[in-house]
Amino acid sequence: MDGNGRWARQRGKPRLAGHEAGAETVRCVLDYCRDAGINYLTLYAFSTENWSRPQAEVSGLMTLLRTFIDKYEREMIERRVRLRVIGRREDLSSSLQQALARIERATATFDRQLIVALSYSGRSELARAARRIAEEVKAGTLAPEEVDEAVVAARLDAPDVPDPDLIIRTSGELRISNFLLWQCAYSEFYVTPVLWPDFREADFQAALAAYAVRDRRFGSVESGTPCAETVRSKQEQES
Ligand code: FPP
Repeated sequence: MDGNGRWARQRGKPRLAGHEAGAETVRCVLDYCRDAGINYLTLYAFSTENWSRPQAEVSGLMTLLRTFIDKYEREMIERRVRLRVIGRREDLSSSLQQALARIERATATFDRQLIVALSYSGRSELARAARRIAEEVKAGTLAPEEVDEAVVAARLDAPDVPDPDLIIRTSGELRISNFLLWQCAYSEFYVTPVLWPDFREADFQAALAAYAVRDRRFGSVESGTPCAETVRSKQEQES
């Protein structure tokens, strides 16, 4: 969700105004995903590196998150959206942790999922997985020779969430910025110059259209099946 700061600067507003406008975009994108039949949306809301931003911006962002939760908790329950958090939640204030835990519990049985990455970085998630594995090996419940990709994947923050098919980055930056480093191995990338607060349905549809004609080979030979057909046949199988 990049470009909030630039969006604000272009309008002579404080950076926090960009984040506030960005929170409105989050609300819209939840609707676009619902309408497009997308069941998993992961939002990179706050990285471990973002703690180094000026204190006023950090606390403004935390307040904004809290406001967002309070404002949309009931709506998420009504719309049957499951909220999950990935990242070092212990870095967050105890009141924010409690609010997040409450809404996670209240929505735990719903299928459509909104995963919010908070105090998150891919490297930190992998380091935590490595620590869990080391602890299990030390406790004698896991043998070193049993450690394979499945064992690592099962110790990530949300192990049952499928790897992302598509990663959209706004504001034109061509980098991954420590996001879902393990899970993005074969994700398709889409970069748009649109700043996150301006990202609207036409931009979202443009990203899906670009995805639909990609040929995902997963390191194998040409499949000849663009994503649109794969998605369609998956939907047919499910219905
Ligand atoms: C990156 O833009 C954006 C962030 C660090 C924060 C994103 C947070 C929100 C949109 C708030 C609401 C989130 C939820 C889940 C309700 P930037 O500040 O790096 O922009 P810049 O590169 O233009 O300075």
